[in-house]
Amino acid sequence: MRLTSSSLVLLELAASALAVPLTVDVEVGKGVTAPKPNHARANEVKQAFEQSWNGYVKHAFPHDTLHPVSNSYEDDRAAWGVTVVDALSTAIIMEKEHFVAKMLDHISKIDFTTTAKENDAISLFETNIRYLAGLLSGMPCSSTPPSLFPPLQLLSELEDGDAQLGRDTVTYTHARARALIGYDLLKGPFSGLVKDAAKVQNLLDQAKSLADSLSIAFNTTSGVPQPTVYLNPTRRHGNSSSNNIAEVGTLILEWTRLSDLSGDGKYAQLAEKAESYLLRPTGSPEAFPGMVGGDVSIADGKFINSDGGWSGGTDSFYEYLIKMYQYDPAKYGEYKDRWVLAADSTMKYLASHPTSRKDLTFLSQYSGQKTIPVSTHLASFAGGNFILGGVLLGSDKYKQFGLDLTTSYFNNYQQAPAGIGPEVFQWVDAALPANDTNNAPPPDAQKDFYAKSGFYTTAGSYILRPETSESLYYAYRLTGDRKYQDMAWQAFSAIKKVCKTGDAYAQLNDVMQTNGGGYIDQMQSFWLAETLKYLYLIFAKESDVQLQFQGGTSKYVFNTEAHPFRVKG
Ligand SMILES: *[C@@H]1O[C@H](CO)[C@@H](O)[C@H](O)[C@H]1NC(C)=O
Ligand SMILES: *[C@@H]1O[C@H](CO)[C@@H](O)[C@H](O)[C@H]1NC(C)=O
Ligand SMILES: *[C@@H]1O[C@H](CO)[C@@H](O)[C@H](O)[C@H]1NC(C)=O
Repeated sequence: MRLTSSSLVLLELAASALAVPLTVDVEVGKGVTAPKPNHARANEVKQAFEQSWNGYVKHAFPHDTLHPVSNSYEDDRAAWGVTVVDALSTAIIMEKEHFVAKMLDHISKIDFTTTAKENDAISLFETNIRYLAGLLSGMPCSSTPPSLFPPLQLLSELEDGDAQLGRDTVTYTHARARALIGYDLLKGPFSGLVKDAAKVQNLLDQAKSLADSLSIAFNTTSGVPQPTVYLNPTRRHGNSSSNNIAEVGTLILEWTRLSDLSGDGKYAQLAEKAESYLLRPTGSPEAFPGMVGGDVSIADGKFINSDGGWSGGTDSFYEYLIKMYQYDPAKYGEYKDRWVLAADSTMKYLASHPTSRKDLTFLSQYSGQKTIPVSTHLASFAGGNFILGGVLLGSDKYKQFGLDLTTSYFNNYQQAPAGIGPEVFQWVDAALPANDTNNAPPPDAQKDFYAKSGFYTTAGSYILRPETSESLYYAYRLTGDRKYQDMAWQAFSAIKKVCKTGDAYAQLNDVMQTNGGGYIDQMQSFWLAETLKYLYLIFAKESDVQLQFQGGTSKYVFNTEAHPFRVKG
C-alpha cells in the first residue's frame, strides 16, 4: 500500500534541480533467462504467511489488526476484519484452501453498510485498496461472469480428488473454467457447485455494497472525493477542503474493475470524474512536465501546490497511470501519455546520486522546481513501476532505470544494521550545491555510515512494508537474473530474523540497530496482502498470475495493495 499522508517534511530550498547523467550497471536484454522457481524458498515464505495468519486467527480474528507482541488486536479499519479481506488473494495464490474457506465465510457476514462504532472515520483510499480490491481479486478469472465459475472452496475439495488437474489454484481455476464454459454448469457434472457459486457471487455483491457505501465521498461540488466517510449514525462524508493525488488517483483501477464485473458503469464514472482533474491539471502549475502538485481543492479540483514526488500522498497516482494502460490499452492511452511525461521528467529532474555513492540512483522529492534529496521506503516501488512501463511500451530506457532504482533502494537493506531499509532517508545530492539548505550533510553519528552507504536515516522504523520486495519481483520477472531472487531472500531472511514474534510478525522501531530497536506492536494487513505475496511469487512456480515480462502478455495487473485483477481483453 501507499501511505496517504506524506510523512515527509518539505524543507526550504535554495537551489534548482539539475539534470544528472544516469549510471548504467545492468544491460537490459543481456543475459536474460527465464524465471526459475525455487520451491524450498517459496515454501519458507508460505510458512511465514501460515504463521502470520494463524497468529492473527488465534489472537485477533475477526478484528482488523493483530497486535503481535501483546497478542491482542485493534479495530482501525471500520472493524470489518481488514486482515481477512486483505489476505484473501495471497491465500488463494498460495492454495491455502482452509484459510480461503474461513475468509469467505467471514466475508459473507460483513455488513458494509454501517460500522459497529458511531462516528467511525473510514478512509476512502485505504478501504478501496485493501477491502474493495481484496473482494474483487478474490474472483480469479473474473473477467467472465462469476456465475460461470466454480467457487474457491470447491476448487480445493475437487483438487484433493482430482490429481490430474494442476495444483496451482489460479491455473486450476482457469482449467475448470475452460471445462465449464460451453457446458451448463447447473446441469453438468458440477451441479453440486450451485450453492458455492453463490458464495463467489457474494464477493461481487459485497464489493458493490461497499462501493455504494463509500460513494457518498464523491458527493462534492467538483466530484473530487472527500478522503473520509462515516456510515454510523448517518451516511455522510467529512468536510476537508483538499485531498491528495494518491487518494484521488488510486480509485480508477478498482472502480473500473467493479463496473466491468457488475455491468454497472456508475462506479467507473465516479472515479473517472475525480481522475479527470489529475489528468488535465489546472491551478498551481506542474513542477515538471507530468509531475503535478500533491493536493487538489475539493471545491473545484484545482491544484493547490506544486510539491510532490514518488513518496506517500502522491505515489500510487503515478503507479496507476501505467497500470490502467496495462488493464486496457485501448481505453487508457491518455493515462499512458501522462505516465510517459512523468517518467521522462523523473529521469531528467528527480534522479539523484549521493556524493558518497554516485553509483546509486534515488528519487528526490520536489517543491516547485526545487528538488529535495529525501526519499522513503514507500518510493521504492518506483523501480517496479518503471520496469512495468518499460515492458508495456517496449522501452529499454525505462527498464534500465527501473533496475537501477531497484538495486539502489535495495542497497538500503544491505546497509542498514537490521538488514531492512528505513522508512525515511536522506543523502547529499552530488548535483546540488553543497550550501543548498536541503542538501544537509549527515549528522555526526551517521557520517561514517553515509560514507559507505550513500544515505542516512531520518526515520528508522520498518512497518512490514512491501515496496522494495515488490520491485525485486518485477526485476526478476524481467531479467530472470537470480541475483534478484537472492536479494529478496536476503530481505525475507532479515525480516524473519528481526520481526518474528512468538505467534506472528511485528513492526520495528529502528532498523539502524541490529535488533531493530524493539517492536512496534502491530502487524498491518499489507504484510499478508503484499509483502509475503511478492516474496512468494518471486520464488513460486509459473502460473497465470505471474507477470509475463519476457515476451508473453501478463494476464493480471496488481493493484497498489498487490491484489491481482484480470486484465481486459
Ligand atoms: C449530496 O449532496 C447534496 C448537496 O449537498 C445533498 O442535497 C444530497 O442529499 C447529497 N446526497 C446524498 C446521497 O447524501
Ligand atoms: C459536513 O458538512 C455537512 C454540511 O454542513 C454536514 O451535513 C455533515 O454532517 C458534515 N460532515 C461531518 C463529518 O461533519
Ligand atoms: C552558495 O555558494 C555559492 C558559491 O558557491 C554562492 O554564490 C551562493 O550565494 C551560496 N548560497 C548560499 C545560500 O549561501
